[in-house]
This record gives sequence, structure tokens and C-alpha cells, in this order.
Amino acid sequence: MTIRVATPADAAVVSELARRTFYDTFAASNDAADMALYLAGAYSIDIQTRELNDRDVTTLLVEDAGAAIAYAMLRTDHVPECVNGPDPIELWRFYVDRAWHGRGVAAALMARARTAALERGAKTLWLGVWERNDRARAFYAKCGFVDAGEHIFLFGTDPQTDRVMVTAL
Ligand SMILES: CC(C)(COP(=O)(O)OP(=O)(O)OC[C@H]1O[C@@H](n2cnc3c(N)ncnc32)[C@H](O)[C@@H]1OP(=O)(O)O)[C@@H](O)C(=O)NCCC(=O)NCCS
Repeated sequence: MTIRVATPADAAVVSELARRTFYDTFAASNDAADMALYLAGAYSIDIQTRELNDRDVTTLLVEDAGAAIAYAMLRTDHVPECVNGPDPIELWRFYVDRAWHGRGVAAALMARARTAALERGAKTLWLGVWERNDRARAFYAKCGFVDAGEHIFLFGTDPQTDRVMVTAL
């Protein structure tokens, strides 16, 4: 398994992985029309090309035997009021292919994400996680994140509550 910073040349791979892992994670517990709307607005080769060219975004890609199995994105953008640590950066997306859950990939990717955040000069790492995503919340708590508040995430037409979690770097 290797972890590297993705480049615009990876747009098709990241886009496919991102779409698939998002669908796998949330399709069963959400409305199909909202899912379709969200997927259309979030994942395509053009959209991921823009993100991979964006200096405010760092994308980490995990590969095993040449196959992409996980990715994470860090982003400097708006910061919710409940995040009050110094120099914050958002862990915007963090997804591991289902076949690799519970096998240490997520921990390795988190360690690399923390290093990448430090390299960007951040001192506080924050994220939003759906209040009903128990596995992810348990994983983040295991990684030292604590609950700091909430914000709204618009899933298609459905305004959902995300817990905002924070850790010091
Ligand atoms: C979230 C994610 C990255 C965590 O990686 P992982 O390899 O599954 O994490 P781990 O197995 O190390 O840790 C998950 C913990 O949750 C626990 N868990 C599993 N299912 C659970 C559930 N339904 N409810 C509560 N906890 C659960 C596990 O037992 C484990 O804790 P333990 O190590 O103390 O036993 C991965 O599951 C994933 O990619 N999920 C889909 C995408 C996603 O939800 N991303 C986050 C978006 S904010």
C-alpha cells in the first residue's frame, strides 16, 4: 500500500473512487433522488480536475497493487464558528473502499493527512461527519477528534446535521 499526493492526472481515478465510496456509504440510508442530485454536483472528471488544480485543496490517494483504495482531501475554506483552535484546516473528505474497512488503511491515511495538514501550516484539524454515521464517528474519536458542535450539510434537497469534530495537530 502506498499513499501519495494526487495530481490532476488522477482526476478520473479520484472521481470514480469518490463517487463509488460516497454511494456505498450513504445510499442505503438516504433518498435516491437526493443521492442522484448530490452525485451529479460533486463528482465528475471536470469537477475533480478543478479540485486537484486548486491550491487550497490537497488530495491524498492510497493505492494497493496499482488500484486506488482510499482517498482524503484537505481544504482551506470557511471555518464553522464552533471551531476555535488556531490555524484550522478542514479534513474535507475521507473515504476508504469498503473491502478495506477495519484493515488499518484508514489509520495510515489519517496519519498522512495530519502530516500534510502540518506541512500546510495548520495547527487544528476539523471535519464534519453525518450525525448518523456511527462508524466514522467512532473512528474519528479513536483518532483523537472531539465533538465541537454541528453544522448543516445539504444532501441533495435534504438539510442534514453533521457533527463537527476537532483535533489539535
Ligand atoms: C470511516 C472510515 C474511514 C473508518 O475506517 P475503518 O477502517 O472502517 O475504521 P476502523 O475499523 O479502524 O474503526 C472504526 C471503529 O468503528 C467501530 N464500528 C464499526 N461499525 C460501527 C457502528 N455501526 N457503530 C459504531 N461503531 C462502529 C469499529 O469497531 C471500530 O472501532 P474499534 O477499532 O474500537 O473496534 C471507513 O469506515 C470509511 O471509509 N467509511 C465510509 C466512508 C465514510 O463514512 N467516511 C467518512 C465521511 S465523514
